[in-house]
Amino acid sequence: MRTGRALLPLVAWPLACGVALAQTPQPAGTAPAGGAAAAPYVMTMGDMMNTLIQPRHNKLGLAGKAENWALAAYAATEIRQAFAGIVKAQPKFSGMPVGELVDVAINPPLKALDAAIKQQDAAQFAKAYDQLTQGCNACHMELNHPYVVIKAPDASSFPNQDFSPKR
Ligand code: HEC
Repeated sequence: MRTGRALLPLVAWPLACGVALAQTPQPAGTAPAGGAAAAPYVMTMGDMMNTLIQPRHNKLGLAGKAENWALAAYAATEIRQAFAGIVKAQPKFSGMPVGELVDVAINPPLKALDAAIKQQDAAQFAKAYDQLTQGCNACHMELNHPYVVIKAPDASSFPNQDFSPKR
């Protein structure tokens, strides 16, 4: 049949691509043709801070400022999980125990933030968020990065996300 024939290449094409894609990833440690051996990328502490922590700290601040309590609660959970993951991925930095530092510098202000979010108390949120930010900087001082200074965001760095509360 004519239509059947015309459609056949359209069906065959993604199948062929699927096969090609499935063959693309190189198993770790094998050399791609003509290249050096591929190695999995291991995130440094700086990478994790830059990708996991800094944006979550930012979003948490923006959500609280907008009094979007549902989003603030979510952002607090996300940053807590990110710190938990970092502690597992990198238990020591310069010989210092990362988990203990997080326990001292981050967990108490996060607890205060949880309470403020539950009570939908903007003033209490601002105070707890300030303590969280001080916790960031205390750890940076402790781990010899005093020049990495964190502050509350003065503007959103996420033009494609709406931080205003939904009813
Ligand atoms: C356990 C200690 C610790 C805590 C707590 C901590 N940091 Fe960090 N942070 C570090 C260390 C160590 C570095 C430097 C890591 C490196 O250079 O590999 C760093 C670096 C950074 C950087 C620089 C990364 C870059 O590429 O620009 C940012 C941004 C950052 N932290 C944000 C934060 C924020 C925001 C918080 C609080 C919500 C925070 N950090 C809490 C230890 C901590």
